[in-house]
Amino acid sequence: MKVAIVGFGFNAEKSHVPAYRNRSDIDLTAVVDPVTARRAAALRQYPNIRVYEKFGDLLEEYSDEIDIVDICLPNTFHLESVKQALGADKHVLCEKPLVLNKNEYHELVHIADERKRVLYPCHNYKFAPSIVHAAYLINEGKIGQPLFASFNIFGGGFQGTLPQNKRQSENNPELFGGGIMIDHGLDAISVAQTLFGGSPQQISAHIRNLNETDNQLEDLAVFSLDWEEKLINITVSSLGSMPKSYYRIQGTEGEISIENNDIFLSVKNQPVEQIFIPTNFDDPGHANWFNGLIDNLVDCINTKNTKPFPLMEAGLVLDIIEKANHSNHNGGAWMGI
Ligand SMILES: NC(=O)c1ccc[n+]([C@@H]2O[C@H](COP(=O)([O-])OP(=O)(O)OC[C@H]3O[C@@H](n4cnc5c(N)ncnc54)[C@H](O)[C@@H]3O)[C@@H](O)[C@H]2O)c1
Repeated sequence: MKVAIVGFGFNAEKSHVPAYRNRSDIDLTAVVDPVTARRAAALRQYPNIRVYEKFGDLLEEYSDEIDIVDICLPNTFHLESVKQALGADKHVLCEKPLVLNKNEYHELVHIADERKRVLYPCHNYKFAPSIVHAAYLINEGKIGQPLFASFNIFGGGFQGTLPQNKRQSENNPELFGGGIMIDHGLDAISVAQTLFGGSPQQISAHIRNLNETDNQLEDLAVFSLDWEEKLINITVSSLGSMPKSYYRIQGTEGEISIENNDIFLSVKNQPVEQIFIPTNFDDPGHANWFNGLIDNLVDCINTKNTKPFPLMEAGLVLDIIEKANHSNHNGGAWMGI
């Protein structure tokens, strides 16, 4: 399948391109970016691709050579560019968050449905190898009935690829379109969904912009979810200087703890088992998570599945974030979802 990347910044170069490079079923044929240096960076790696300053020009001149449009733009440009791509009857892979509110979400789901095209949000934490393995252990009943989970996702430490050596979207509230909840809050909810299935019934949240000197974005959220008989405590922060994630899941028979590339499985009355699963939560590119995601995207396209799971999940995430904001404005009161 032939892919065009729209927005050749940090994420396109560090995550998507390495995944495409290792696959024989995906050809990168075009890149769109208004910044000359970014088009040059794409051409250095793929001398034979077409490059365009504007997405409209690519669709006008080269549409027949594209099956999938891969949107890696700053968040606030997702809505319009996804509409453009679906309008040209392309399948769409779109970086997260797909969009910023439920109205935009329903509009896109409707267009994808009408056009019979796959719209696939990049919820890549679902495909992080140690999360996939932990889900397997839980499903196998290794820790019995899960009761409690604690997730800590700390972002930071990006090495931008843009000329000014800084991701455009990272520190710009207008381009980012929201704070930590639409960034790592989304990831944490997606991990909970992957591990436990189902959905939460209520949320209590505290969301803050503690480091007011760097930007106007909320940089810390601490929230709890009542999730079908389980309590999940989540802390997501972009205050630090390097990315790190820790996950702990406790059940009736034991506990799973994930620390970067190791899973510790501790079952009552048995020695702790340490399982090495290269996941590299400390690499902001997360390049090795994308292969599973692309497998699933290709499968959805081949089977004409226009309701890929991450698209459904994107709607759930927006619901939860809306209720998190209500809770925060009400001093952390529990809000039904
Ligand atoms: N899945 C993940 O783990 C992950 C990680 C980082 C970023 N992201 C997401 O990826 C997206 C991009 O983030 P990034 O860090 O790569 O940002 P970035 O600022 O590094 O890159 C954005 C690129 O888009 C280009 N651009 C801007 N306007 C454009 C337009 N109208 N047409 C074409 N190109 C345009 C910019 O020149 C830049 O090259 C965001 O939605 C972000 O949330 C996801």
